[in-house]
Amino acid sequence: MRANVAGRLLQHYVDKSRSLPWRSPPGSPAPDPYRVWLSEVMLQQTTVAAVAPRFERFIARWPTVQALAAAPDEDVLGEWAGLGYYARARNLIACGREVAERGGFPDTEAELRKLPGVGDYTAAAIAAIAFGRRAVVIDSNVERVAARLQGLANPTKSQLREAVEAITPDERSGDFAQAMMDLGATICRPRSPLCADCPLRSDCAAFASGSPELFPKPKAK
Ligand code: ADE
Repeated sequence: MRANVAGRLLQHYVDKSRSLPWRSPPGSPAPDPYRVWLSEVMLQQTTVAAVAPRFERFIARWPTVQALAAAPDEDVLGEWAGLGYYARARNLIACGREVAERGGFPDTEAELRKLPGVGDYTAAAIAAIAFGRRAVVIDSNVERVAARLQGLANPTKSQLREAVEAITPDERSGDFAQAMMDLGATICRPRSPLCADCPLRSDCAAFASGSPELFPKPKAK
C-alpha cells in the first residue's frame, strides 16, 4: 500500500504536471543545476506565478552560472529588485561566484549545503531535481500533504520528515518532490482541499476522517 503512494503520485505528475520554465518534462533528462538552483532560490519567498517571468528574464540575461558570476553586483541586484530580501540576492551573487570558481555545482546534498544561501531545503531540492539523488525535500506544502496522509493534527517536524522519507522513492525523486509540491499547491490546499481530484485519497487518513482541512490543525488567527 505505502509503496504505491509514490507510484500513484508520479503517474499523476506525468498526466497533470504544471509546465514551468525551470522544469524539464517528467521522465526526461534532469534540468541544468543552475536553473534548478536559481528557481529554488527565487521560489523561497515568492509565488510560482510571480517567479516565472522573472526567472525567464534572469536566464535570458545570464544563461550560465559563469555569466552570472561575471556580472557586476549592481546589475544582479537590479534584476532581483522586487523579489524581496536583499540578503537572498547577496547570497545569490556569492554562491554564483563560488560555483563558477569551482567549475560547477556539487552533486551531493552535503556539499550543496555548504554554498552561500543554500539551506536544507534548497540542497535537497537541487540534489533530487538536478542530480536525481534520493533526497527528502520538504517545504510547507509538502508538510501539509504528509500531515494529511498520516492524519497528524499536531505533527512535529521529525514526524513530518519521517512521513515524507517513508514514501520518497529511490528513483525519480526529483519528479516526486515536485509532484508533492504541486499536490500541496493545487489540490491539497490548506482550507478547501480538492480531494476528488487527488490521486492519494485512498492512502489518506485525513480524507478518511471526512474533515481533511483539520489536518494539520489550522492555526488560530
Ligand atoms: N516551489 C518551490 N520549488 C518548486 C518547484 N520546483 N516547483 C513548484 N513549486 C515550487
